Amino acid sequence: LKEIKVGLIGAGQVAKAHAVALASSGVLFGTNYRTSLSVLAEATPELAKSASARLGFLESTSDWKQLTRSDNVELVDIVTPTHLHSDQAIDALEHGKTVLCEKPLSTSSREARRMYDAARKSGKLNMVGFNYRRLPAVALCKKMIESGELGKILHFRCSFMEDWGGNPDLPLTWRFQLEKAGAGALADLGSHALDLCRFLCGDIGSVCATQARYIDERPLPPDGRRRGKVDVDDATMCLIEFKNGVLGRMETSWASTGRRVALEFEVTGAEGSAHYNLEQTNELHVFSKMSGASGMEGYRTLLMGPLHPYGTGIVFPAPGCGMGYEESLVNEIHDLLSAMTDGGTVSPTFYDGLQVNLAIEAIQRSAREESWVDLT
Ligand SMILES: NC(=O)c1ccc[n+]([C@@H]2O[C@H](COP(=O)([O-])OP(=O)(O)OC[C@H]3O[C@@H](n4cnc5c(N)ncnc54)[C@H](O)[C@@H]3O)[C@@H](O)[C@H]2O)c1
Repeated sequence: LKEIKVGLIGAGQVAKAHAVALASSGVLFGTNYRTSLSVLAEATPELAKSASARLGFLESTSDWKQLTRSDNVELVDIVTPTHLHSDQAIDALEHGKTVLCEKPLSTSSREARRMYDAARKSGKLNMVGFNYRRLPAVALCKKMIESGELGKILHFRCSFMEDWGGNPDLPLTWRFQLEKAGAGALADLGSHALDLCRFLCGDIGSVCATQARYIDERPLPPDGRRRGKVDVDDATMCLIEFKNGVLGRMETSWASTGRRVALEFEVTGAEGSAHYNLEQTNELHVFSKMSGASGMEGYRTLLMGPLHPYGTGIVFPAPGCGMGYEESLVNEIHDLLSAMTDGGTVSPTFYDGLQVNLAIEAIQRSAREESWVDLT
């Protein structure tokens, strides 16, 4: 067994999923690697100490450079607020580490390009955490598109709707600040949707968008007695022309009352279509013209299981007992650790992360200028 030593920077909301995936992917897939959770970095010594104990890391530090430069770390996993990604990832790459960085890659295409350049220069494996590519149903949909089962792709609509951001009492954390997040719902949720646009349909050619903010001020931490200005979108709606001629639509809002984690898409081909909603994680809905016109044709529901992508990693190998959010990260980390162990490449890379940052900026410009914007 090859042992891969891992460092994790940031131990907030999504870090638990990373720690579990890092610890369990080798067991679930029965592979020739195992991880050692070596070092965890947090913002203060107290946070670092308590998080490393909670998540099972051997050492802790409040100086992330000790982690990115440690001989005890081969893979640096970055799960900090987005404005911190670039310096941390670049330092890790410059010190010979493989890097997994959460999405969106950065707050701007300028910073994302710096990260991409550093990744290229280092020659190290690099990955951006668009984990939803690795849900079995999404991966199956990609296979169906590539095999031509759906015929020529005509149009694609994708939305990512949640409702927590509609709560005006939520404090003004980094997610609501342009400088730290790069955008609002568009960066937080829309970046995933834009990645799926690219993953399933190809490069984005131009966009025409509009954005709204519903809550202009939020309570300032720590006690909320003062209020601060929000300067990001709560919702973004966007038309897309793909470079290959596919027509698309991307919508996102974190103020979508009643929608909990509705990452939904429908890809329409000349011979068939596929529909997915993350709120029904293990279902892919498919329609095929091949079934003829008997009056009994319609969308079928496929339950993901052992026969589908990543099926060998399922804990209980029965269709419908499949995988959830956590396993999208298990599968992502498994692919990365396998490439580190056996060689080969892995995606989405920092190049893909940069493309999403470019799309985010084009959408923001389009909304500002009220016109179509081409992606260069
Ligand atoms: N792929 C997904 O499904 C998914 C889900 C949620 C968040 N994310 C992404 O993950 C990243 C983190 O999001 P989150 O929700 O966990 O944020 P969070 O605010 O809950 O956690 C961020 C953590 O980083 C720590 N931190 C801040 N400065 C630091 C420093 N200098 N050194 C070390 N740690 C520091 C904070 O103390 C905090 O614990 C973001 O880029 C976000 O977009 C991805």
